[in-house]
Amino acid sequence: MLIDTHCHLYKEYFDNLQEIINISKNKIVLYFINNGCDNKSNVEVLETTTKYKNVYGALGLHPEMVENYTLSDIKFIENNISNDKIVAIGEIGLDYHYTKDNKEKQKNLFEMQLKLAEKYNVPVIVHSRDATEDTINILKKYNVKGIIHSFSGSEETAKQYIKMGFLLGINGVVTFKNCNLKEVLKNVSIENIVLETDSPYLSPEPFRGKQNNPSNVYFVAKFLSLIYNISLIEVANITTKNALNMFKKIIY
Ligand code: NI
Repeated sequence: MLIDTHCHLYKEYFDNLQEIINISKNKIVLYFINNGCDNKSNVEVLETTTKYKNVYGALGLHPEMVENYTLSDIKFIENNISNDKIVAIGEIGLDYHYTKDNKEKQKNLFEMQLKLAEKYNVPVIVHSRDATEDTINILKKYNVKGIIHSFSGSEETAKQYIKMGFLLGINGVVTFKNCNLKEVLKNVSIENIVLETDSPYLSPEPFRGKQNNPSNVYFVAKFLSLIYNISLIEVANITTKNALNMFKKIIY
């Protein structure tokens, strides 16, 4: 059994979610964590967790929303964080890729949500792009753990995150030809890894460029079985155990 710990199952991308769940079943992908990124998607995430047994949710305000959120959007997260099927606060973090001009605002939004995670003792799902140093320094201020989503950093960075109690979320990026991540992972134990797709983005090879869906977490698992030279079943067992240890609300 595989878990897709990071996807965006919004109506605008997937108009028939039941079909996606059925396709995923054929590839032994049985549980999904639907990640919100703004208030609209957080509302949808909550709806999908009510409607579909195997869909769990994370509520969060993505750094790209830094100019467009209100305090009531934060309140919405707090009001629903104790829901049985909301397993984390995410997707939250820092993204300096397009602009560094709003760094302080981004940090503020990130920290408001980390405070909630600490207060309610829930894991976080962290997006960090071109912002490793600030991400690490901020996470160190809080008593939180969780997932570093779409990890693609150096071995040194991987080890820092792991030491802080974080797991690395690995997706289709690892299958890309010119990606150094496979070399890095050879020196990182699979005990520190969870699988994800980031659907509808980041399709793994051989589907790179097409719309991604959670069933493709199967191909990420297969690729890891080659990197670690273990069977697909072992990859499934270990990464699923890692995810269940982190997200205690998932009942399986
Ligand atoms: Ni994402």
